[in-house]
Amino acid sequence: MRRILVTGALGQIGSELAPALRARHGVERVVSSDLDGLAPRSPAADGPYERLDCTKLEDIRSAMRRHDIGEIYHLVAVLSAVAESDPERAWRVNIETLHNVLIAAREFSGRVFFPSSIAAFGPSTPRVGAPQVTVQRPSTMYGVTKVAGELLCDYYATHFGVDARGLRLPGLVSYVAQPGGGTTDYAVEMLRSAALGERYACFLAPKTRLDMMYMPDAITAIIQLMETDPARLKHRNVTAMSITPAELAAQIRERAPQFVVDYRVDPLRQSIADSWPQSLDASAAREDWGFAPRFGLAAMTEDMLCRLGAQVDASKPGRRQGETGDAERKTTRSARGAAG
Ligand SMILES: NC(=O)c1ccc[n+]([C@@H]2O[C@H](COP(=O)([O-])OP(=O)(O)OC[C@H]3O[C@@H](n4cnc5c(N)ncnc54)[C@H](O)[C@@H]3O)[C@@H](O)[C@H]2O)c1
Repeated sequence: MRRILVTGALGQIGSELAPALRARHGVERVVSSDLDGLAPRSPAADGPYERLDCTKLEDIRSAMRRHDIGEIYHLVAVLSAVAESDPERAWRVNIETLHNVLIAAREFSGRVFFPSSIAAFGPSTPRVGAPQVTVQRPSTMYGVTKVAGELLCDYYATHFGVDARGLRLPGLVSYVAQPGGGTTDYAVEMLRSAALGERYACFLAPKTRLDMMYMPDAITAIIQLMETDPARLKHRNVTAMSITPAELAAQIRERAPQFVVDYRVDPLRQSIADSWPQSLDASAAREDWGFAPRFGLAAMTEDMLCRLGAQVDASKPGRRQGETGDAERKTTRSARGAAG
């Protein structure tokens, strides 16, 4: 059985995808990798880990050879708001690393998963129910790299037979690893503030509608996509809900009536959000390969507040050593990226 490589494994998605793959295929079969060494109590330390800079093709080749890699989940990227502040780096990281992974996958007969995003659409895409096949003229560098990435995967599939698959994911909401400085991150930040009993200053306007998905549904969709007969895979759009900051705040207040949100709009992230569709049409993914998210807004809010509440409780002073719970081990990482 060939092994699986997860690149960018310490990020928001990788922190949950790598453990899910290890649970499914066995700890030793999944090699996690990222730029940095592992922190002492990192959950990624329970199995093989490689320090791997994916801008270096030779290093990817070497890791694939040493571990006999047959499948790569390529999660490396500079995300939306960060990419706008350093577009040259975003192009280098997002495109060069994907190209390196595709070259290595071709040489070692490997399969590739590449996550695209709602950012692959732009202001000229239909704003409501953006179709699978439609105008893709994004106005952000992040979006430009996502469209180019989709095309690069298609090229390697068509010309070199590389089994490269992808999803257009919406903004992801999760409690294990913390997103930072991004466009859809407000949802995680708002829920975390509520769990801490704090006010929240939202950087998007209250009626900004965007697609979102709870991380467990995204992990299921990624694994399901990679296990599906390729003949059934034609479409990339997936989503679970289309929500606004005001709607999320209202859901939170149903459970924490004292919760207060202020709105302090950040022009950069608001302009990015305004360039994206308000919702995607994911009906073809449901029909083609059975994509079926379990969490809507109410269920996601309930679960997030419960999980984050457990993290807050676990971090309170006075807990004895050895009492550390699962929630506490899954520590949040420092702010770094930005959600879709
Ligand atoms: N999180 C979301 O809401 C969301 C939505 C849609 C699509 N996506 C896509 O999913 C993928 C993963 O997203 P994420 O939220 O986990 O991102 P993230 O920023 O949380 O994680 C990315 C990881 O890549 C690592 N990295 C950066 N440069 C690297 C390099 N040169 N070599 C190796 N590792 C490097 C970083 O250290 C980081 O741990 C990205 O392609 C992103 O565009 C994410």
